[in-house]
Amino acid sequence: MWDKLEKIRLQAAEEIKGTKTVAELEEMKVKWLGRKSELTELLRGLGKMPAEERPKLGQKTNEIKRELEKYCEERENVLQKKEEEQSLQADLFDVTLPGRGRVNGHLHPLTRTMLELEDYFARMGYMIYETDNLTNEYDNFEGVNIPADHPARGMWDTFWVKGEEKKKGRLCMATHTSCIQNRILRENKPPYKAVALGRCFRREATDATHEHTFYQIEGVIVDKKLSVGNLKKTLMDMVQFIIGRRVPIRLRPSYFPFVEPGFEVDVQCGKCEGKGCNMCKGNGWIEMLGAGMIHQNVFVEAGYKRNEWTGFAYGPGYDRLTMMRYGITDIRHFFNSEPEFIEQF
Ligand code: PHE
Repeated sequence: MWDKLEKIRLQAAEEIKGTKTVAELEEMKVKWLGRKSELTELLRGLGKMPAEERPKLGQKTNEIKRELEKYCEERENVLQKKEEEQSLQADLFDVTLPGRGRVNGHLHPLTRTMLELEDYFARMGYMIYETDNLTNEYDNFEGVNIPADHPARGMWDTFWVKGEEKKKGRLCMATHTSCIQNRILRENKPPYKAVALGRCFRREATDATHEHTFYQIEGVIVDKKLSVGNLKKTLMDMVQFIIGRRVPIRLRPSYFPFVEPGFEVDVQCGKCEGKGCNMCKGNGWIEMLGAGMIHQNVFVEAGYKRNEWTGFAYGPGYDRLTMMRYGITDIRHFFNSEPEFIEQF
């Protein structure tokens, strides 16, 4: 028994000190100190030894155990340090190398306009809504006074999507943020001001001022006795906020089925101040948005009594507002992900 203990002590010490990795050391710990190790077996068999030898044998076995544990600990420190150094060495990079130039992330100009507009409208007391990209035939058309066979449907020809929404008809991509008008009217008790921001999609041939995907804002204001004068003042303030100074605007009669009267709103060209230049194609004015007094049919469709309330709505595309603000000449820049374009803002 004494010989056996001594043999274990020598062999284990040698093997522990000879380990080359932390993983190897773990194996040795199991082999020499684990539940199935020879030492543990010996301790278990102690009961069968002569009574007078038992205490001494027990003491010796425990001594060896402690000794081996100490070796393990020492070896572990050494090996761990070694492995840390090795991995540092592998990840080594030269801190004195010159940098590759700064890359500054920042918001897309459209996002910036959107956030600033939301802030502006919130301060003006509007509720803020967001339109869904995927909507349905009712909200996009019927709910805003454009029945199925109405010729105006051509103006907003869209992408149809397989599927149908209960009671609301076929699914389609939103062609204008006016698709939220019905919901805003239904959800609120007048008087109120609401604005919705969202993405719109149209089956459109693209050019410098038209994209198949663009962004719109829908303003909806309902109260007693509202007039076109209120509408014009509201739009003048909004344009001033976006462009940063007071600019003349004009209303031209136009047609949208959900407003009566309806207008196309132009802003005086900032480049030539109305004289006519290449930016405004010689007009002196730049077309900015559609607007008008909410049609009573739209009120009735949303559950209001005819002629009880008045309201106006307006729908600028904020891609165009952003273009005007920064002097961007082609709407397609917004989506082509060219760093040369984006980094200018
Ligand atoms: N929805 C119209 C469009 O996209 C714009 C508009 C909004 C016109 C509100 C009048 C009132 O062309």
